[in-house]
Amino acid sequence: MKIKYTISLIFIVAVVIIEKENNIISKVSDKLALKQTPQTPLPSSIRQNGSSVPVLSELDFSSYLEVKWRLENITSEPSEGRKHILLLATTRTGSSFVGEFFNQHGSNMFYLFEPLWHVERMLTLEGGRTNGTALTQTYRDVLRQLFLCDFSMLETFIEPPPKDHVTTRLFRRGSSQSLCNDPVCTPFVKKGYEPYHCHNRRCAALNLTLASLSCLEKENHAIKSVRVRQLETLRSLAEDPRLDLKVIQLVRDPRAMLASRMVAFANKYEHWKRWIMDGDIPEDDNEVRKLKGNCENIRVSAEVGLRQPPWLRGRYMLVRYEDIAMFPMLKAAEMYRFTGIPFTPQVKDWILRNTQASDKASGVYSTQKNSSQQVEKWRFNMPFKLAQMVQKLCRPTMSLFGYTFAESEEMLTDRSISLIEERTFL
Ligand SMILES: *[C@@H]1O[C@H](CO)[C@@H](O)[C@H](O)[C@H]1NC(C)=O
Ligand SMILES: *[C@@H]1O[C@H](CO)[C@@H](O)[C@H](O)[C@H]1NC(C)=O
Ligand SMILES: *[C@@H]1O[C@H](CO)[C@@H](O)[C@H](O)[C@H]1NC(C)=O
Ligand SMILES: *[C@@H]1O[C@H](CO)[C@@H](O)[C@H](O)[C@H]1NC(C)=O
Ligand SMILES: *[C@@H]1O[C@H](CO)[C@@H](O)[C@H](O)[C@H]1NC(C)=O
Repeated sequence: MKIKYTISLIFIVAVVIIEKENNIISKVSDKLALKQTPQTPLPSSIRQNGSSVPVLSELDFSSYLEVKWRLENITSEPSEGRKHILLLATTRTGSSFVGEFFNQHGSNMFYLFEPLWHVERMLTLEGGRTNGTALTQTYRDVLRQLFLCDFSMLETFIEPPPKDHVTTRLFRRGSSQSLCNDPVCTPFVKKGYEPYHCHNRRCAALNLTLASLSCLEKENHAIKSVRVRQLETLRSLAEDPRLDLKVIQLVRDPRAMLASRMVAFANKYEHWKRWIMDGDIPEDDNEVRKLKGNCENIRVSAEVGLRQPPWLRGRYMLVRYEDIAMFPMLKAAEMYRFTGIPFTPQVKDWILRNTQASDKASGVYSTQKNSSQQVEKWRFNMPFKLAQMVQKLCRPTMSLFGYTFAESEEMLTDRSISLIEERTFL
């Protein structure tokens, strides 16, 4: 155990040094990178292949290819049977980006992007209200069916209803390779308006029977969702003997989430902008209460997960978006290790391509961005007053995840001060 840890630590240090010197994978501000080095939480869970143990002098990295080569040799613990991965997130936590880690896995993964969108849409009442109890139960039941490759309940929430299990309206079909590759992609025939189509090739309307058959053929199933509010509500999925559930909860600094939401959903935050200008933020506002409620849900879910109750033992992992942005390859390897699914070359290649990209790609759901740069960007756009308010509303959540409070405007905008503490979760 100790040897394993030491080797891995050497490995991490080497990778970090390389990152620092060659700007590979993701460039991190030097301070942050150095600070991260000694206690990076990754080592204990990453295993070198085979028993031949490299020592420091052998780790003569000099090129990008060698790093890539090393990473290819990270293996995950072999593990039997089907896996059902739920990426549990909230909006603007980078969940589209992290979802790609599973979407890109290859031919043995069936990945669905936000299927619960349909459920939420249909169960939202007049005036945007929802029945929390009904939503919670339906989310759980639809998720269970989807993990078992059964689309019948989801179909009842698709509008207009699929005809003979065929639809052009499955939300963001194009974000799921499983729904756009063979055999689910059948030859294109022009047939009216198609809001959600595949990006890489033209496919006929989605045949959900075919999708279900394809799903049954795949060893692993992954679903990304920003809609489940409380981890506890999924207990019966974790206990279902037909499933081997693995929950990865993705969290992010609430200040950054708010900053990102204000850009992505600008209309909804018009009045916030006015408050900031006026210098007066009312704490009894509905949106303000919602922000606090979100933070509480995230915290309560994480507390349940970190407590590791028997029903969740070995099934829960907490990941901070910021750590992924700074060390995407290593965090991905760690996530795969947790799920017990092999970390494929396709995933590694995707990460290499997409974490070196400049932020020329646009669109609010874009996953192609300079991820390390994104991590701290919000600090230079967010009025201090607003940061202060989030800190007040989300204090326990921020403390739990290790997000440092900015005590002053100077501290907020001082690049040399990191607002992310090193933390190891489990
Ligand atoms: C890596 O592990 C696999 C499976 O245990 C083994 O077949 C292979 O020979 C190993 N490769 C190296 C380079 O040790
Ligand atoms: C893994 O390591 C071995 C040497 O230990 C090397 O020959 C091989 O190319 C590396 N990469 C892969 C994908 O096995
Ligand atoms: C909410 O949904 C539950 C379960 O479907 C139902 O029993 C309850 O009456 C609903 N509550 C309201 C206020 O509509
Ligand atoms: C959908 O796919 C299934 C399975 O291949 C097939 O039996 C069925 O005819 C298809 N439905 C339509 C409407 O083409
Ligand atoms: C990514 O962001 C970092 C930090 O701002 C910057 O130094 C680097 O040049 C960027 N890389 C690319 C490829 O845009």
